[in-house]
Amino acid sequence: MKKKIFSGVQPTGNLHLGNYLGAIRNFVDLNNDTQNECIFCVVDLHAITVSQNPKDLKSNIYETVATFVASGIDPKKSIIFNQSHVSAHSETAWILSCIARMGWLNRMTQFKEKAGKDKEKASIGLYSYPVLMAADILLYDSTHVPVGDDQKQHLELCRDIAQKFNNDFKVKDFFTIPEPLIKKEFSRIMSLKDGLSKMSKSEVSDLSRINLTDDKDQIINKIKKAKTDALPLPSTIEELEKRPEAKNLICIYSSLMNNELQNSIDEFAGKNFSEFKEKLSEKVVNEINPISLKIKDLLNDKVFLEKILKEGCEKANEIASKKIREIHKIVGF
Ligand code: TYM
Repeated sequence: MKKKIFSGVQPTGNLHLGNYLGAIRNFVDLNNDTQNECIFCVVDLHAITVSQNPKDLKSNIYETVATFVASGIDPKKSIIFNQSHVSAHSETAWILSCIARMGWLNRMTQFKEKAGKDKEKASIGLYSYPVLMAADILLYDSTHVPVGDDQKQHLELCRDIAQKFNNDFKVKDFFTIPEPLIKKEFSRIMSLKDGLSKMSKSEVSDLSRINLTDDKDQIINKIKKAKTDALPLPSTIEELEKRPEAKNLICIYSSLMNNELQNSIDEFAGKNFSEFKEKLSEKVVNEINPISLKIKDLLNDKVFLEKILKEGCEKANEIASKKIREIHKIVGF
């Protein structure tokens, strides 16, 4: 049976190495497998759950599409579209928000992190964000959802919502229960400045992340300045576990080498960071630099990017509008 793959990325700028290793690189592998039907969505409705400058949002939408294509997603094989242009997403999110329970949403750790101390001031959209994410996934009967580790809880919620809808309306198997696809060891790339916080688009310091648009010198400089500790590199996973910054950098190296973690540990055991950082920079530059150049190239061809989105929207709309008509019937509209 064909796997139906769905995933989304927010067009909020500063797409980084964490997005790439945790998600986008897996999208490319899934796109290359002819057994799969893939849909990759630029989730602009999710982006506005925190305030966005409209001009920046528009250019970040282009940049996200350019990043997908520059990384190797083929728009002829996979559907690439933006969420706001397929209205069934918002409509389904409303219907599903009548299925999801407050208690379920209250448990979402990402909302707590993003809303910070002053929850009263967070938008309602930020709170119900995972319900829109469930709508994205369920509209396309998605069987598999490739994401980084930070989205795991949202996927569990999506499964609960699908199950409750199917049970409440006695429509067994109407919504497919999706499986997360999370690459265990590399699904949480950490900040270059703090091995205990996630690499993030919104972190103020640009030195905390490698952006997919960084050039060779920026990459080398950021890795040179990445936080480490005073000891030589360890020889076992147990020792590595106690050293978050070293662990993060070795994980990045291992992920780029497509290596088991232990193989990378063996390669550098007892060596100092400067030697390791040189090798790591070389690998990151080799992987990211061609993507960064391609993104810049593609951004000069907005007509091409618009065409991808237009064709993607037409295909996505065809699938989603059929599903929403069925939802209407089930609900009794
Ligand atoms: P977003 O835009 O925050 O991130 C896009 C993808 O990158 C992964 N990611 C990471 N992986 C490893 N290390 C990191 N430091 C790191 N930071 C981000 C994320 O897990 C994600 O896979 N809610 C989603 C977007 C979304 C979605 C969907 C995803 C909306 N609808 C439906 C899947 C299915 C988000 O905000 O991703």
